[in-house]
Amino acid sequence: MQHLIAPSLLAADFANLGRDIEMINNSEADWFHLDIMDGVFVPNISFGLPVIEAVKKMARKPLDVHLMIVQPERYIETFKNAGADLLNVHYEASTHLHRTIESIHNYGMKAGVTLNPHTPVSVLEEIIPMLDLVLIMSVNPGFGGQSFIPGSIDKIKRLKELILKKNSKAFIEVDGGVDNSNAATLVKAGVDVLVSGSYIFKSADPIATIKSLKLPVV
Ligand code: DX5
Ligand code: ZN
Repeated sequence: MQHLIAPSLLAADFANLGRDIEMINNSEADWFHLDIMDGVFVPNISFGLPVIEAVKKMARKPLDVHLMIVQPERYIETFKNAGADLLNVHYEASTHLHRTIESIHNYGMKAGVTLNPHTPVSVLEEIIPMLDLVLIMSVNPGFGGQSFIPGSIDKIKRLKELILKKNSKAFIEVDGGVDNSNAATLVKAGVDVLVSGSYIFKSADPIATIKSLKLPVV
């Protein structure tokens, strides 16, 4: 499968959000990646439900919502109503993860589990057959524009092995410091979805940058 690109709107120009959404609509990007931060799970606050609702009105591609909030199970229905197509919850933030994943599915969304850099993939052993996606954080969550943690590549290879061993259909997504210096290596390691924020939005030509991230890996 050709890998997917999910630009992270955290790096967009919020004074020109409509323009940036339209840019993604017209690009080769596949999903919108939306980062929700509560100032508790991560040391930053991003944006919330009114922004997701506004994006949903214009977006012609699925919304991949990355919840960096404590007890995400409290807000599953709310994010469904706001327009999420895929809901990512952190392993570290949800005590009863099995129930949380069931609930996300019951609301008709795809379910993803996100791992912080310090969390080993082995914790997913039991739950991975239920998952549509695993999101590997390749930076510590909370901020855009950080440097990629190189150990994430071996971690992704271990995750791919686990997915194959367990006959899971889960996609592998990677988030944090993704650019053209690591994209090909990540795809070769098994990544299906590349999230990229500042590399796309701070570039002179975001449409061309998205296209370059989408190039087939040989
Ligand atoms: C970080 C967020 C990322 C962030 C990626 O906590 O989850 O999605 O926007 O930004 P870059 O690509 O700039 O590292
Ligand atoms: Zn994210």
